[in-house]
Formats: sequence, C-alpha cells, structure tokens
Amino acid sequence: MKFLFSSRVHSILSRMPLKPLMASSFTHSLAQNPSNHDDQLYASSQQEEKDRQDRPSCPFPDMAALCYLGSPGRYLGSESRIERAWAHWRKLGEPKLIVAPMVDNSELPFRMLCRKYGAEAAYTPMLHSRIFTECEKYRSQEFTTCKEDRPLFVQFCANDPDTLLEAARRVEPFCDYVDINLGCPQRIARRGNYGAFLMDNLPLVKTLVEKLDTNLNVPVSCKIRIFPKLEDTIMYAKMLEEAGCLLLAVHGRTRDEKDGKKIRADWKIIKAVKNAVKIPVLANGNIRHMDDVHLCLEETGADGVLSADSLLENPALFAGFRTAEWVVDGEEIFENGNLDQADLLVEYLKLCEIYPVPWRMIRAHVHKMLGDWFRIQPHVRESLNAQSRLTFQFLYSIVNQLRELGVEKPLYLKTMDTKSGIS
Ligand SMILES: Cc1cc2nc3c(=O)[nH]c(=O)nc-3n(C[C@H](O)[C@H](O)[C@H](O)COP(=O)(O)O)c2cc1C
Repeated sequence: MKFLFSSRVHSILSRMPLKPLMASSFTHSLAQNPSNHDDQLYASSQQEEKDRQDRPSCPFPDMAALCYLGSPGRYLGSESRIERAWAHWRKLGEPKLIVAPMVDNSELPFRMLCRKYGAEAAYTPMLHSRIFTECEKYRSQEFTTCKEDRPLFVQFCANDPDTLLEAARRVEPFCDYVDINLGCPQRIARRGNYGAFLMDNLPLVKTLVEKLDTNLNVPVSCKIRIFPKLEDTIMYAKMLEEAGCLLLAVHGRTRDEKDGKKIRADWKIIKAVKNAVKIPVLANGNIRHMDDVHLCLEETGADGVLSADSLLENPALFAGFRTAEWVVDGEEIFENGNLDQADLLVEYLKLCEIYPVPWRMIRAHVHKMLGDWFRIQPHVRESLNAQSRLTFQFLYSIVNQLRELGVEKPLYLKTMDTKSGIS
C-alpha cells in the first residue's frame, strides 16, 4: 500500500504553510503516480489561477494572505476560519449523537426514525458526485429530505473538484455541511478512485476541500479513516483543517481494517487528532449503546460521535435503548424498555409511506432490524427473500406473523443505579 505522507511529505508539509501553496505545484512536486486525475487537477489549477487573477485586489496589503478565499471562507485567515467552524457548530446546537453516512441505509425515513429516538444530526448516504450532476433520476431517488431533516450533512464521493462543486451546489440550500467521503475502503471505491483511496493522492484531497471551501456558502466537512502511522494521520487532519475543512469525522480504523465487528476502532488516535486540530472533531467506531457514547466522548474528547452498524439494528440506540446483547449481569440494572425492533420497523415503514425510497433500502432495513427475530423463525426470513416485489402490506404482515409465532425480543433501558444514583 502506498501512502503519500511518507517522510518526504512530512518534511515538505512541516516546512511550508499549506494555504498559499498553489494546488498545481503541490500536486506535481508530490504525486508519486501521475494519472489522468493529475491532468484534471492541473487543468482546474490553471482555472483557479485565472480566477485568482480576476479577483479584486486586497485593500489591506498586510492581509493579502487572508484575501485568498472564495465565499464566506474567502477572506478568513486560519483563526477566523476556526471561529467560523465553532460558530456554525454552536448554531447547530452542538449535536453529539449523529447518524453516520451509510450507503442505501441512512436515507430520509431512517434518519427521521433515528431523530425521533435521540439522534441530533445525520449524514445522508454517500452520493456519487459525478452521477449526481449528470442524472436527474439518481438525484431524485437517492437524495430526499424534508424541513425536519436537520441538521443534515450531505456526503459525496468525488475525485474531480469541479464536479464535486457542481454536485454540492445543488444540495447546499438543504444541508448544514457538504461532506467529502475520504473513508470508503470498498473495491468499488478503489476502482472509482475515491473514498479511502484518495489517501494515496493527498494533493487532490486538498484541492477538493479548497474548492468547496472557496465556493460554497455552507461549510465543508470530511470523514476520514486513519493511517497506520499516528504522525501521518495527524498531518492529514491538519492539512484538511488548513485546506478549509470545518468539521472532521474520524473513523478510528485504517483502510485495511474493513471488518468493523472484529476490529475495534482506535479511540486513542481519535483523541490525538482532536488534540492536534482546532475544528470540531467527531469520533466514529465502536458505538453500540449509550455507555459507549459516554466513554468515547470522555476518552477522545471528541465533540460528538457517529454510529452506523449498531444503529441499523437498533435505531433507538441514542434514546438509551439497547439490544439484549449489551445487557450484562452486574451492578447495573436493566428493564424491559417496552419497545422492540418490530415496533421500530413498523414506525420505519410508516415513515417510508410518507417519504418514499427505493425498495432495496427498505428490504435492507427489514433484514437489519428483524435479524435476531429471523434467527428464531428462519422460515419468515425465507418468505421475505422469496418475495421479489415488496409491498407495505406484505411487510406489516411479516411483523404480525413473527408476533403471532410468539417471538419476543425487547429492547432494554438502564434503570437507576441504586448505588451511585446515576441513570
Ligand atoms: C451499511 C453501511 C453503509 C455505509 N456507507 C457509508 C457511506 O456511504 N459513507 C461513509 O463515509 N461511510 C459509510 N459506512 C461506514 C460508516 O459510516 C462507519 O464509518 C463505519 O461503519 C464504522 O462505524 P460503526 O463502528 O458504528 O459501524 C457504511 C457502513 C455501513 C454499515
């Protein structure tokens, strides 16, 4: 695996302020594998240089370095940019409990369900910036929202700054951050040269962030994975901050650590990133119930957490509900929360009737929310799998069938701890 933050990059970054570097020189001096993306980058850098020449000159010569930027971020130096990051974060109510981006899974009805049960903000699924700009059907099917769906972070994958900007402009009025996916480790991301594979081309990442920061009204955020070496991760985070990223979500696993169930996220690295940058930082990985939330915030000092996989099974996680798996015998006392995954699924289906989404998304949620129930009555899962065309009526009947078969799997709530008085 190749990482651009080798000692060579480290020494260049530590010697030079990042912002004034022109993207083209950064690219050409550092890119180890020139590709057609570099050509695209170079072309866009020429355009940026032209834009720069067209800009009105700065009335205060001493502030020339600060007069580089585009829209709100355009005239801000790094301290003011940090202030802007925090002012925006505070304006959103400093959300701590956040639905992570999930392809085909963090769509509008699911977000709305999680919001009802405590989520304070949510990411959309990753949207493909090029397809988003080109295809009206893709836009209308894959990105839906509503007035109550805020704060909302819209995530794109991209490797071309102009395309990313064009896509971002379309969603800007409906969201609170435009997020760049820098963490997807899947084969499709390798083939498409986006997500975590941009960790091999950091000059391009820098240009993507700068492009949005310079031209959008809404702030840009990034979601990253960590490098195997701590110092590379820190330099990466600082580079993003310098480039104009105003919110950073750190998934504490490397690009090769794909199995989130088996490999624990490294919260120590998230803590180190939080200490190294000044913008708000979100921690991602290992959030399975509210005890994890509290522990993670305490251990990392992060400003909020994202949860993905566990929320799919239990969208009421942020309201304190937990599946039986996380109810342990000990000093703490748990009680039946009078809510279960079948109740949550019915609520989700009702939201889907209000906010339509493709059936493949609904099918994925049925499997996730009722996974434990299907393990007890596998023939019900088989009847679902046999149904090539779904209807709401059929899905409600599945829930009824499971209940009639006597499946009971409550979600639990922590009761008052009699010793400490902590709930
Ligand atoms: C079904 C699914 C889809 C995902 N899609 C995305 C995505 O679109 N964008 C992204 O940045 N991460 C995506 N992820 C990764 C999650 O956002 C998150 O970083 C990862 O699952 C670790 O969090 P967890 O330990 O809470 O599951 C996805 C994860 C899952 C389970």
